[in-house]
Amino acid sequence: MEKRRVLIVDDDAGVRESVRMVLKGHYETSMVTSGEEALSAIPESRPDVVLLDVLMPGLDGLAVLEEIKAQDPRVPVVMLTATKTVKTAVTAMKLGAFDYVTKPFDVEELTLTVERAAADAARTAELEQLRWEVGKRYSPANIIGSAPSMQEIFRTIGMVAPLKTTVLITGESGTGKELIAKAIHFQSPRAERSLVTLNCAAIPENLLESELFGHERGSFTDAHARKLGQFELADQGTIFLDEIGELAPSLQAKLLRVIEQGEFMRVGGKQTIKVDVRIVAATNRDLEEAMRDGSFRSDLFYRLNVVALPLPALRERVEDLPLLIKHFLSIKAQEIGIPEKAISSEAVDTFLRYPWPGNVREIENVIERLLVLSDHDPIGVEDLPESIRSGRVETATIQHQVLRREKSLTDAVDEFEREIIQAALTEVGFNQTRAADLLSTTRRILKYRMDKLGIAEADA
Ligand SMILES: Nc1ncnc2c1ncn2[C@@H]1O[C@H](COP(=O)(O)OP(=O)(O)OP(=O)(O)O)[C@@H](O)[C@H]1O
Ligand SMILES: [Mg+2]
Repeated sequence: MEKRRVLIVDDDAGVRESVRMVLKGHYETSMVTSGEEALSAIPESRPDVVLLDVLMPGLDGLAVLEEIKAQDPRVPVVMLTATKTVKTAVTAMKLGAFDYVTKPFDVEELTLTVERAAADAARTAELEQLRWEVGKRYSPANIIGSAPSMQEIFRTIGMVAPLKTTVLITGESGTGKELIAKAIHFQSPRAERSLVTLNCAAIPENLLESELFGHERGSFTDAHARKLGQFELADQGTIFLDEIGELAPSLQAKLLRVIEQGEFMRVGGKQTIKVDVRIVAATNRDLEEAMRDGSFRSDLFYRLNVVALPLPALRERVEDLPLLIKHFLSIKAQEIGIPEKAISSEAVDTFLRYPWPGNVREIENVIERLLVLSDHDPIGVEDLPESIRSGRVETATIQHQVLRREKSLTDAVDEFEREIIQAALTEVGFNQTRAADLLSTTRRILKYRMDKLGIAEADA
C-alpha cells in the first residue's frame, strides 16, 4: 500500500529533523519551514496529515490552520505547541485542529496521534467516495429519458426533491419506480440521512405493523426485545413504501394516521413517537380502480398522491430505446468487466418493434445477456432472442401482467385476438373471406371482431 503523506511545518530545523526520524518508517514525509510555504505546498502535495508548529516568524500556526481549514476542511492538522498552553490548544481545536502534541514531544504520543489523524482522514475519504458513488448512480445523468413524458417527470423531480412533499410513483413493472424514488432521496437535503425501503407486498400482514412502527418487548410471543420500526429508522430521512397497493386495509388506516399526525405508537407501546420522515410510495397497481372496488382507501390515496409521478411504459416512449441500448451496453460492459460492444442498426430496429412488456428491466437484462453470450461485435439481429426477433411477447409474461393486475384480462385477450387476426390476414394477403375461412369463422363475424378490436381494413 502507498505510504500516507505527512507534511511537517516548523521553523526549527532540529524539530523538523527529529519528527521526520520518528515518522519516516511509516510515512512519506516532507518539510517546510514557514506557514507561507505550507499554504502553497498543501494544494500540490495533498498531504494526508499536517503537523503544524504554533510559534513561527511570519504567519503563525493558528493563522495557517485557519487558512488550511478554509481551503479544505478535510485535511487533519495536528498542532505542535512549545509549551502546553491550554489557551492555544483550545483555540486550535476550535479552529478545527485534529489534536495537538507538546514539544519536546513524546515519540509514542506523536506516532499515535499521527496514526489516528491518518486513519480519520482515510475514513472521511472513504465515506465521501461512497457517497459520491451512490449519488452518481442515482444522478439524473444515469436516468435515461429524452421523451417528453420523461422530461416532464425530471422537471417534477427537480421541483419536489428539495421539499418534504409526499410523492406517489406509478407505472408498470420495470419502468424505474425504485430508481426514481432513490433519485428523489439523493437529490434532497435528506441525502445524508437514511433511505429506508419497505416492500409492503413482501412482509406478511401480521408482521407489517411491527416492521413499520416497531414493537415493545413482550408485545407478542416472539417479541423478545424492543425493536425499532422502519418509520423510526427513517427519522430525518426518507421512507420508500414500495408496492403500496398491496397494503392491507387495517394498515392503510394506521399509515394514514402517521401521515396526518406525524406520530405513531410501537406495537404494545403506550408512548407516542414523533418522526420527521419524507414518504415516497410506489405501485404498479391501478389505485383508482382499487379505490372503486374498495381495496384501497381513497383518503390514503389523496394523502399519498400529493405529487404524482406516472412513469410511462417503455412502448410509450420508443424514442428512448436507442439511448437505453447505448447506456446499458456501456454500463453493463463496465460492470461485468468486458470491453464495450457496438450493435448493428438492424438489431436496434428489431428492438424498436418489440413491445417490451418488462420495460426497462427487460431491456437491461437482454443487453446484459447479449454482452455475455454473443461473440459478435457489433451485435447483430441473429444474436437476439427469438421472442424479440419475432416481436412476440411470451404468453407467460402476459399472464404475469394480468395476475399482477397490470393488465385486465379483457385487454390481454383482446391483444391476443388482435395478433391472431392480423397474422391470419397477413397470411392470406388481406383477403377477409379467406382469413375468415382460415380462422373457421364467417366473414361477417370476422369483420365484427376487426371493428371491435380496431383493426382497420387498410392497415390490416
Ligand atoms: N430511465 C432509466 N434509465 C436507466 N435505467 C433505468 C431507467 N428506468 C429503470 N432503469 C433500470 O431498470 C431496472 C428496473 O427499474 P426499477 O427496479 O426501478 O423498476 P420498478 O418500476 O421498481 O419495477 P417493479 O415494479 O418490478 O419493482 C433497474 O435496474 C433500473 O436501474
Ligand atoms: Mg420496484
